[in-house]
Amino acid sequence: MADPEVVLARLVAGALSDALGAQYSGADPLIRPSQFADFQANAALSLARQLGRPPREVAADVAAQLADSDVVEPPEVSGPGFINLTLRSEWIAAQATGLLGDPRLDVAPANPLQKVVVDYSAPNVAKEMHVGHLRTTVVGDALVRVLEHIGDEVVRANHIGDWGTQFGKMVEHLLDIGEPAARQMLADGDINAFYEAATASFDADPAFAERARRRVVALQAGDPETLRLWELLVHSSEQYYNAIYARLGITLTDADLAPESFYNPMLAAVCDELEQAGLAVISDGALCAFPPGFTGRDGQPLPLILRKSDGGYGYGTTDVAAIKYRTQELKANRLLYVIGSEQSLHMNMVYAVAKQAGWLTPEISAEHVSIGLVTGADGKRFRSRSGGTVKLITLIDEAVERASEVIADRYPDAAERARIAEAVGIGALKYGDLSVARDSSYALDFDRLLALNGNTGPYLQYATARIRSIFSRAGLDPADAAGPILVAEPAERTLALRLLGFGAAVHAVVATAEPHKLAAYLFDVASTFTTFYEQCPVLRADDEATRQSRLALSALTLRVLTTGLGLLGVPVPERM
Ligand code: ARG
Repeated sequence: MADPEVVLARLVAGALSDALGAQYSGADPLIRPSQFADFQANAALSLARQLGRPPREVAADVAAQLADSDVVEPPEVSGPGFINLTLRSEWIAAQATGLLGDPRLDVAPANPLQKVVVDYSAPNVAKEMHVGHLRTTVVGDALVRVLEHIGDEVVRANHIGDWGTQFGKMVEHLLDIGEPAARQMLADGDINAFYEAATASFDADPAFAERARRRVVALQAGDPETLRLWELLVHSSEQYYNAIYARLGITLTDADLAPESFYNPMLAAVCDELEQAGLAVISDGALCAFPPGFTGRDGQPLPLILRKSDGGYGYGTTDVAAIKYRTQELKANRLLYVIGSEQSLHMNMVYAVAKQAGWLTPEISAEHVSIGLVTGADGKRFRSRSGGTVKLITLIDEAVERASEVIADRYPDAAERARIAEAVGIGALKYGDLSVARDSSYALDFDRLLALNGNTGPYLQYATARIRSIFSRAGLDPADAAGPILVAEPAERTLALRLLGFGAAVHAVVATAEPHKLAAYLFDVASTFTTFYEQCPVLRADDEATRQSRLALSALTLRVLTTGLGLLGVPVPERM
């Protein structure tokens, strides 16, 4: 384990117990980044209070234990009692050389292994995928990639909306325009037009509305012909999602579909179980759960409706049944729900009911991986000029088109330009999303996302292409760079030190389900590499050992960046 913070924590913990007594071996050494050194340990301050001794004196005693460590320089005490920790350059160099030979780049495997259900993407059948689904799809896919990388067992659950009363009017509209036309419209992405036409008929034509209502009843009763038409709608929509997933490089397949309808056969029993356990009661004819701690504005307990007074079930019932299924049948111990922040009350109520039912426990957790809005430049929900929702596919096309303009003069060959523009445009869109804290909103601005400078996909892609070109100019393969890595110049030291943090950055995403932490780390690595490259000639280094070392640092940077971008699901073009 080369992660400096972990190594220092262990080292200082030993020094604490040596200096103060074995009873302090478990004390948190409080390792923090420092302005004056690589890190500082702040533990002496709080321990001094317990010991009733001056903090600087305690710090000096602890520091003295580290006087001849091969990891850190003899530490200095600063301020009220901080212990400044500067890593030895030889230690950094040796660790970085070790990393070069480590296929895992020091990413520790999950311990203990978890079984994680990641509920993400989840578009609605016969409704357009819009910009909101970009985030739930892209963030969710980054999380499954990271969790699988550390060895967790991951179940992707695409909880698509394929059930509800809206299917009555859609089936009737399908019959009106004919199956082939409907299939074509849905698979080609003319989904909004289909849905709007169905809604228009429903609103304008009472006879149509009546047919639609009867159709809902037939669907719920399992009428075979109605089910066949409904499946046609569902499958056509799935083809459409799959085309978008393929374009975006999303790892979801048909095997990951866990649609709302999948839970239908479980709903009645789940309702009975909750009612018998006294966790749900009839209120105004509906079966409702009133989980503790949720009240409305009037101070009255808020209901989670499980069965409506007409006997129908809703979105919430399905989510409650899904938790039971995922914990009891799939035996998952971590559930991640990558869903818009506007659904947080709903999800928290569902989790509260599941806790009462005993399906969620301290060992079996559910987390709302809350997703913020994508806005327009005005800070309001992203809309098209006419005020409607913007199709996700339109955004993808625009990103790629603009990327093509950015690289146009460097790639006159149309086929090559198209290939690179696809990676750059989609990379910009995905990275733009992943680099922002997932629960905050951001304004979609293509100029910013596509900028070659700053924390953008193209900047990181370009950093990898530049490193590749160093090697190709020298006729070398980065995979052959064997080092050893030496650390003499400050820029070499900083870069090597950053590279040692890859495992910690990956595990920060595992712990918090926040991919932007990995993005921020990768941006830091790429920026640090830029400084290194400006200050330290690689191919024209003064001597052969330095040249080998800098080639190795470059190769290691390339691997960290490509592995990290791969975990985020951001494509990396070979050239740019
Ligand atoms: N289909 C829903 C939507 O588009 C999202 C479903 C999220 N997942 C869930 N288990 N509720 O808003």
